[in-house]
Amino acid sequence: MRLDKYLADMGIGTRNEVKHYIRKKQVLVNGTLPKGPEHKVSPGQDEIIFQGEKIAYIEYEYFMLNKPSGYVSAVTDAKYPTVLDLIHGQSRKDLFPVGRLDMDTEGLLLITNDGALSHNLLAPGKHVPKTYFARVSGTVSEQEIEWFARGVNIGEKKDTLPADLQILSHEEGNSEVILTIMEGKFHQIKRMFEAVGKKVLYLKRVSMGDLKLDKSLKSGEFRRLTEEEIRLLRERS
Ligand code: URA
Repeated sequence: MRLDKYLADMGIGTRNEVKHYIRKKQVLVNGTLPKGPEHKVSPGQDEIIFQGEKIAYIEYEYFMLNKPSGYVSAVTDAKYPTVLDLIHGQSRKDLFPVGRLDMDTEGLLLITNDGALSHNLLAPGKHVPKTYFARVSGTVSEQEIEWFARGVNIGEKKDTLPADLQILSHEEGNSEVILTIMEGKFHQIKRMFEAVGKKVLYLKRVSMGDLKLDKSLKSGEFRRLTEEEIRLLRERS
């Protein structure tokens, strides 16, 4: 890998900035001055020092975010803050959210730069289960449990795949439920409840595959995934 790419990937600066640092002799490779920005280095083997500080190469980073309402699941947005605005301390500049939660949906969102893992988690054929807590208008009953288990018509070519609905409570004319779906169509849960005449008032994702939202993360907080969590995600995908 080129030295300028190594340093740019690690967030030291833009490609042009790091070229400047290299030419200004602010970078050492294995204790000696490199030939130039195109100098080839081996991540994990060569020691790269920038302004006296060792820069380890990190290929992939994985963060779990407890997404608050009001943030767009995108890398950039012209109008609203994005989930990436909530992540700090990362090395990689190429992080993105794995899939989308609606602007007003809260909860578990994986943020990474691992494109292959993301692709596998989102691939429709993989049927990765996603579990949500929802507050819904009206009284959700056994009838909805059956309908969702069979699949409902949300205006797509096919009915939704069987989904597991559990009723937690009924309160003040609303219901609290846990719903697990195996696909991720646009506004899927809102549309599933609409299809049975109900409205989602609050929605929060609590798990995706083997990854569970860390209960200690307050809304808007994030943490790095553990090695074990990364292993579990990779195993499934
Ligand atoms: N279903 C929805 O309707 N919205 C989400 O954000 C996620 C699932």
